[in-house]
Amino acid sequence: MAAIPPTMKAWTVVKNSNPPTASSLRLRTDAPSPTSPPTGTNIIVKVAYAALNPVDLHLMGVVPAWLPFRKHPIPAMDFSGEVVALGPGTASSEASEEEKAIKIGTKVCGALSVSPIFWGSGTLAEYISVPKDLVARVPEGYPMEAAAGMMGIAGQTVTLMVREAGGLGEGKTVVINGASGGTGTVLTQIAKAKGAKVVAVCSGRNEKMVKGLGADEVVDYTRADKKLEDVLAERFGGDGKGKADFVFDCAGSQELYSHSPRYLREGGKFITIVGGRSQGIVPWLRNGLRPVAIGGTPRPFSLLGLTPAGDTAREVAGWVEKGWVREAPIDQVYEMGDALKVSLVIRNGAFVSVSVNANGCGGLRRTRSSRASTQRGRLSSRWLLVERMVVCVMQSVLSVSSRVYDG
Ligand SMILES: NC(=O)c1ccc[n+]([C@@H]2O[C@H](COP(=O)([O-])OP(=O)(O)OC[C@H]3O[C@@H](n4cnc5c(N)ncnc54)[C@H](OP(=O)(O)O)[C@@H]3O)[C@@H](O)[C@H]2O)c1
Repeated sequence: MAAIPPTMKAWTVVKNSNPPTASSLRLRTDAPSPTSPPTGTNIIVKVAYAALNPVDLHLMGVVPAWLPFRKHPIPAMDFSGEVVALGPGTASSEASEEEKAIKIGTKVCGALSVSPIFWGSGTLAEYISVPKDLVARVPEGYPMEAAAGMMGIAGQTVTLMVREAGGLGEGKTVVINGASGGTGTVLTQIAKAKGAKVVAVCSGRNEKMVKGLGADEVVDYTRADKKLEDVLAERFGGDGKGKADFVFDCAGSQELYSHSPRYLREGGKFITIVGGRSQGIVPWLRNGLRPVAIGGTPRPFSLLGLTPAGDTAREVAGWVEKGWVREAPIDQVYEMGDALKVSLVIRNGAFVSVSVNANGCGGLRRTRSSRASTQRGRLSSRWLLVERMVVCVMQSVLSVSSRVYDG
């Protein structure tokens, strides 16, 4: 077992802010490393890259940094790295074959769940302790920086969307709103691999990238002359080409759902991963519960929420191995010490997700650019978290046309 130093480098939240700023995030060089040897079924991973998702930014803004049990909280959920220590429970006879294949030196990736983030044990650090059943092996030859995003929150969320859609395949037409983002890029690739026709919605500057991922058509939502819903209605309604079978919303648009009968066929599905966004919980209640007879939209509405799991990460790794998905587009790599440059980028609105190579000469990775992040950044983060929690509770209790996938 490789010696793990007692202290490590880690970014820590010193003050709540979304987006993070120079005064809200600090790079510590003396953060305590995870306990070695690890306990139970935990493993210790030397982090190579850690990706930031929109939810990480929300959490940096809302989970109080001052709570006594969150001493020097480390943010972020996604990671890739190498196993350096195994807990005694990892060799248990109950472990799956996949779990047994994970040994010292194995390259792994995945995403933490929200609870370690509440406790302040995120992935923007040199070492993390993580339950073995949360990780997948990095597919042979797949870049570690891409693995952090692909098998992390973004890729795992896409497995939910594909599952919820059911018959995504040959002869189907899908609309993907937010096709240039972390989730949208993976969804575009898997939809194409399954034989569907993809109408991708993103800003014009990302058109080339999204077409490179296989999108058949691109609709630019930033067009000043027409609303997105009108463009889609024209595309699908005006010339008898037939309406879409699925609309996937990875950007969060109430209008897109309300107008969906104009471009989503009867019996088609509207699937979103963004709960309420700027408009609070009311739209979710309206969309999920309001009968058509009293003004509800006559299309099923599914709001999904991810609980990260090793099985789910492995499903995405399987897609990578089959060559169904490959690309996790990366704009730029930053040194680990340059996180504040990334904060600046976030403030300037050209940011989607970030990876930190915590391995000494590490780097922060920026993938594509997004207006969504900045728009969300201006919202009340506290409200967004409360809203997300309420949505999750409502989903569990009511289970009305919504699914919470538990891995
Ligand atoms: N429910 C869950 O479990 C779950 C899991 C993962 C993510 N999410 C949520 O899903 C959303 C997407 O995540 P992500 O990682 O893909 O985010 P992301 O990487 O920031 O991507 C956002 C995408 O939205 C597009 N966009 C921005 N404003 C838009 C608008 N007004 N109309 C149409 N498209 C717009 C962007 O396009 P351009 O860059 O081309 O402008 C980009 O493609 C986030 O809100 C995230 O919190 C939820």
